[in-house]
Amino acid sequence: MMNKVLKGIAGLFILLTILAQIFPANDIDTPLDPQVDLSGDSSVPAEVAAALKTSCYDCHSNQPNYPWYAKIGIVKYYLTNHIKGSHKKLNFSLWNNYSDKERRHKREEICEEIEDGNMPIKSYQLMHKDVALSETQKELICAWANSTPQK
Ligand code: HEC
Repeated sequence: MMNKVLKGIAGLFILLTILAQIFPANDIDTPLDPQVDLSGDSSVPAEVAAALKTSCYDCHSNQPNYPWYAKIGIVKYYLTNHIKGSHKKLNFSLWNNYSDKERRHKREEICEEIEDGNMPIKSYQLMHKDVALSETQKELICAWANSTPQK
């Protein structure tokens, strides 16, 4: 009985793997729009924009760098879904489309999340050694996040 169930699950998994290879997840990539992207907000210091770009854009932007293993269709579905989940909370590609109130709130959360060490996500840091934020970078980001907005 158990054996049949296991075979069924394995069969379904193989089928999904094959289907995901034939019908890959849509790319999230769109060209960066400097009018709307965070990098177009002149109140963001260049170091802050650069640090956020390196450490957060794979999930919180429309320019994720898919890793090589996203060639595996089922992995790409998982990653794409994860990116869509991140976008619901924060998408730096749409930064200037947010209202002032939303931006203020997001700046607060950005500082909180990095101070608490929740972001960038731990499992992601294991695969990407260069995305950890230094103490200096965290201070710069929080100084910006807590400063009075220019607009
Ligand atoms: C590997 C993907 C990934 C990376 C990299 C990443 N995040 Fe996130 N982030 C997420 C996901 C997924 C969520 C949504 C979590 C949830 O819904 O609970 C999230 C949520 C957030 C939130 C909202 C928190 C809340 O509870 O509302 C903030 C703010 C945030 N991230 C900031 C950042 C910043 C700043 C960076 C870079 C230093 C970063 N994230 C890097 C995946 C990521």
